[in-house]
Amino acid sequence: MLLRRCYSATRWEAWELRQRLLKEVAGREDEASPEDEVEFVQGDLLEADISEVTHIYLSSLCFEESMLFAAAQKVQQEARNLRGLASLQPLPYLRKVGELMLPMSWTRPRGLGTMAYLYET
Ligand SMILES: C[S@@+](CC[C@H](N)C(=O)[O-])C[C@H]1O[C@@H](n2cnc3c(N)ncnc32)[C@H](O)[C@@H]1O
Repeated sequence: MLLRRCYSATRWEAWELRQRLLKEVAGREDEASPEDEVEFVQGDLLEADISEVTHIYLSSLCFEESMLFAAAQKVQQEARNLRGLASLQPLPYLRKVGELMLPMSWTRPRGLGTMAYLYET
């Protein structure tokens, strides 16, 4: 599984990782069609049905500790089809499989990134 590795990625490496994940998960190398692969839901994560979710990105940089615990517990208990989760803050309960330094809009001027913590259930 690709997410077992620890990454310190440049933008290009992140793009390559995305392509490799696409190939592994969807069996193809081209960009995923949003209509085929992604459903956008506006709502409370803690109320959402995440039983069919395969990948989660938690933009959790400003989440309070109680929200981090609640989100991680929900993922552990309900995300039966999860392949990988990335969070901008460390999470309890889940098995950490790597860390990935990712460029963010707010880090671009300094050329750095923000650490993303990678998990499996
Ligand atoms: C740092 S902002 C990220 C905004 C945007 N998604 C991005 O990545 O640029 C964190 C977001 O988490 C959302 N959020 C906080 N608690 C949430 C919850 N229980 N369910 C869904 N979203 C939540 C907030 O509304 C906020 O938009």
